[in-house]
Parts: sequence; structure tokens; C-alpha cells
Amino acid sequence: MRQRTLTIIKPDAMRNRVEGHILQRLLDEGFELKGLRMLHLAESQAEGFYAVHRERSFYPELVRFMTSGPVIVACLEREDAVAHLRKVMGPTDSTKAPQQTLRGQFGTNIQENAVHGSDSPENAANEIKFFFPGAKFD
Ligand code: CMP
Repeated sequence: MRQRTLTIIKPDAMRNRVEGHILQRLLDEGFELKGLRMLHLAESQAEGFYAVHRERSFYPELVRFMTSGPVIVACLEREDAVAHLRKVMGPTDSTKAPQQTLRGQFGTNIQENAVHGSDSPENAANEIKFFFPGAKFD
């Protein structure tokens, strides 16, 4: 089933100037770009987006990292988009991610892991609304 998901190219990947490589890999994987934005997250946006993690010890550091520079946010569409993006990203900890995954190739550690991807179709719908409120994609 065709499905949508949300990805964020994180500040570490932007600093390393690999956003073009990441977008090309996603296109090569058959994802269609439905929506694309570049922005520097405000603290309140990063806090809101990652609110499910607010009790975790890494939350303040995560908010600091995600607001440390611009990001690119994209709404992606493909067959089985949520699961496929997670496969292409690899595990959260970049040091454990296989080399052919985005995090293996472009991430540094468990926090600076180059990309975010929605973890379920329900969260994907909420995350897409968070960054593209009211959007009617073609
Ligand atoms: P992401 O997939 O965007 O979802 C939550 C983010 O929190 C995760 O990627 C990492 O960037 C970060 N994160 C998750 N676990 C840890 C951890 N144990 N220590 C530091 N950062 C983490």
C-alpha cells in the first residue's frame, strides 16, 4: 500500500553537507518527495516534536542538538514508506548501523544520527501535520 512518512535531515548531516546525498538516496529508493522545507527549529518546535521523549535523560541534549542548525524536513511517499525508510536509515545508534544505511554512512553516534524517520503510520500522519499543517499534496 502506498503510504507517507516524514524524514528530517538533522543538523549534523547539514553541517557535513551531505543533505544532497541523503535526498538522492531516498529518491533512488523510490520515495517520491511530496513536501520539502528547510528551517532552523525553534526550541519550542523541537520540544513539541520530541515531546514523547520529554522524560528521557537525553531530552535536553536532543533539543539542543536539533536546534543547533538548520534541518530539512520532507514528506515522502512510497509503497510501505514507514518501514522502508526505517530500513534505509538503519538503527538509532549510528555506531551500530550497517555501512549501507543512511545512519551507517552519514551518522556519528546515537544522538547525531543524520536522519529521523517516523516510527509508525499513526506517528507519520501526526509528524506530517506538525511540519506541513493543512497541506494538500499533489
Ligand atoms: P530519532 O529517530 O530522531 O528519535 C529520537 C532521537 O533522540 C533519536 O533519533 C536520537 O537522535 C536521539 N536519541 C535517542 N536515544 C538517545 C540516547 N540514548 N542518547 C542520546 N540521544 C538519543
